[in-house]
Parts: sequence; structure tokens; C-alpha cells
Amino acid sequence: MKTPSHLKLAALDRKHVWHPFTQMREWVRSDPTVIVSGKGANVVDARGRSYLDANSSIWTNLHGHRHPRLTRAIQRQLQRIAHSSYLGLANEPASLLAEKLVRVAPKSLKKVFYSDDGSTALEVALKMAFQSSKSKKSFVTLEHGYHGDTVGAMSLGGMGVFHKAYQPLMFRTRKVMAPYCYRCPYNRAKPERADARTYRRCNWECVSLAEKALTKGCAGAVIEPLIQGAAGMIAHPHGYLKQFAALCRGQGVPLIADEVMTGFGRTGTMFACEQEKVSPDFLCLAKGLTGGYLPLAATLTSRKIFDSFLGEYAELKTFFHGHSYTGNQLGCAAALANLEIFEKERTLQTVLARSLELGVMLQEFWKLPHVGDVRQVGLIAGIELVKNWKTREPYRWKDRVGVRVCEEAKKLGVLTRPIGNVLVIMPPYCITTGQLEKIVNVLQRSIQKICR
Ligand SMILES: Cc1ncc(COP(=O)(O)O)c(C=O)c1O
Repeated sequence: MKTPSHLKLAALDRKHVWHPFTQMREWVRSDPTVIVSGKGANVVDARGRSYLDANSSIWTNLHGHRHPRLTRAIQRQLQRIAHSSYLGLANEPASLLAEKLVRVAPKSLKKVFYSDDGSTALEVALKMAFQSSKSKKSFVTLEHGYHGDTVGAMSLGGMGVFHKAYQPLMFRTRKVMAPYCYRCPYNRAKPERADARTYRRCNWECVSLAEKALTKGCAGAVIEPLIQGAAGMIAHPHGYLKQFAALCRGQGVPLIADEVMTGFGRTGTMFACEQEKVSPDFLCLAKGLTGGYLPLAATLTSRKIFDSFLGEYAELKTFFHGHSYTGNQLGCAAALANLEIFEKERTLQTVLARSLELGVMLQEFWKLPHVGDVRQVGLIAGIELVKNWKTREPYRWKDRVGVRVCEEAKKLGVLTRPIGNVLVIMPPYCITTGQLEKIVNVLQRSIQKICR
């Protein structure tokens, strides 16, 4: 089939489409980039321009576009069936996948509930935690956390800017300060980056606050392990996750680990929880679950939580939740291929190698006067742009500095999306050293041009 021209596709988009997280007044005046294909770490637009996918298509893609194993698995599944209901029926790839997920996940997790995306994975966890809790008290959540855009997931989150308009719809949670060492009141480090002492102090304060909030009877506590993504790629000090989990354990509060972003190797281990030997009560997975090819999510939980739902039909202890596409065969086939790639291609070793290289390359950013902080966990990096690096004065939201830097980078062939004034580097694992260098180089040049 011949691809319609860029002009035609862009015009149709402007005329009919409403994009996520987008001010549409600006959008309809713009000339959108229309992606038509991809290969490895590159995507290509309808004008034939190629870009490096430096944020893995919003943190989803793991092994690159059109990976043969993933493509084959989806095609093979299509030859059999694309989808059948999961209500009252089981299916082949969903059963196989559940067994594999339980095998690779932390040992506390024995049961898999499927849904469609990160937000629904969190909705499932919070409803399960609430229904199984005896006291039905509130949840403990972290400031600036992001868990998705459905009403329940928004309530668990702490993204004032995004969710302010919906406040009356949301339920209240106990919000606890999360460690953000760069902007921590105890950060007196010179130069103005956080040092080891700041990290320890910030960690100590945040753990103490969590301790006060986490009391017996809380329905659950939610955390993005090791690094808060949409908050601005905020890496937590080493040990925070472990201490937070220990506090939950001590009070009998179920721990919900949101690994929608960090799952499947992003932080260097299969799951971020592993790095601090944490075995949560719920593990929420989406994004990379299918290698970034199809929408599928999974909420894993313990046998204890599962058992608390068992009863007679008339007791109404059933978990009354499900979606039309629960356990979708195509998604599950892709997820099986994703896990197979990890095994066959030693993906975690590649992630470690690329992360080390990225770590070295990132040092260059410190030399730029408008870079306040550079944070990295595995193959996730956040570069925080500031107006004044000595005072850490942020740019104003309306200056759109992050957006303008990314627009400049796009002209130079690198696609990424900022979080406010934090630039994100989160490439697919198939990225080469040369491609990584290009991303870093282009972002540096773009910062110099826009922030000068
Ligand atoms: C940690 C985390 N949880 C949940 C979500 C929501 O996922 P989705 O956009 O697939 O609903 C996101 C999305 O960025 C996320 O980063």
C-alpha cells in the first residue's frame, strides 16, 4: 500500500485528532511529525526523515523497532487468533506468559492479573489492596509520584500540574515527601549538585516521614522503585526503597511496586526491586512488557492477597474487575517473545554495558552552565535545566525551555520528550555506542543554542 503524503496525513491529523498531554491550539498551528516506520533505534517520518528514538517511544520500546523475534511472534499468533474473551475462558499465550512472569518476578509474587496499560495495572493493584484490607484506610503515596491518568491512578499520584482540574474526583491519600536530593532543603553541597552527605540526610528525613505515615491498617503504599519517572527522573538515594519496604512490612501494609517504567531491564536488573532485594505484595507492569509493541499490562500479587478473595459465589468476595481485552493473545505472544529475547540475546548484559557508557558520556553535561543536575539509573537519564546553576533557580514553566531544546534536537535527528525542564535520555537497548554519542552530542548542542 502506498503511504499517503506527509501533507495529507498531517492535515487529517490536525483536522480530526486530539493528542494526549497536548495543547491543541498550538498543535493545530504546527506541522506535526508523522511517523510511518521504524527499524532498530530509528523511526522514520512521512517525509523520509530518520530520527533516533531517544525516549523509546515514551519509555515503551526495549529491543528496537521491528525486532524479528517480536514481529514473528505477533505474525504467528495472528495466524491462529488475535483475541478471544478472557471472561470464563483461558488462552494459550496468556497461560504461558503468566508462568514466565511468575518465574522472573520477585519470589513473593505468584498470581497474574492482566489489563491494558500502566494506569489500569495500578487501578487493579489499588482495588485489590483495598478490597483485601480489613480496615479500608487510606493509601500512602509519594509526592510527585506518577501512576497514570485514570481517576484511581491519579489519586495515587502527586502530579499537581497534570491532575489539578480533577481534584474533586480523586480520593485522598497520605502523601509523603519523596527524596529529591537536588532540591532537598539540606542540599548545601558546592558545587550545587547533591553530595553523599546530602543524600544521606535527605534519605533519613524522607524515611522518617514515611515511618510516621505508614501506620497499621493503611490499605497499601505505592512507590516507583529506585527512580520516579514523570516527576523528572528523580533517582532515590541507595537504600531508600529497602527502608520504605521494611516500614511497610513492619506495619503489615501491602507494598505496591509500580514498575511500569522501570520493569524489564531499564535499571540494569530485570526489575528495579531486585537491586534492594525487595519483594513487594503487588508488582505493576506495562510499557516494556510487550517490548513496546502492543498495549498489555499485568498486576502480579502474592498468594496471600489472592487467597483473601476466595469464597463461595454468593459471598461476593470475587474481584469484580476486567476489561474487554484482558489477556489479549497478540499482546501475550509479544510479551513471551520479549522475555525470550532477554534469555537468548543476553539483554541485561547489553543494558549494563550501554549504561556504563552513558554514565561516562553524561559527565559532559556538567560543563554546561544551564545544567543543574544530571541523574542516571541504568538506561534512564534525566538532565535538569536551570536558569541559574548556582542558586538552582528553575526556568519558568511558560518559558518552555525543555520543549524548545527538544524541538532543536529533533531538527538534528534526535527525538525525545522533556518532563518540564528535565531532558530525558531513555533509548532502546539495541542502541549502539555511536548512536548514544549522537544523542548526547545533539542534546548538548541544543541546550547550548536554546539556553545561551
Ligand atoms: C511509573 C508509571 N506508572 C504508570 C504509568 C501509566 O502508564 P500508562 O501511560 O501506560 O497508563 C506511567 C506512565 O508513564 C509510569 O511512568
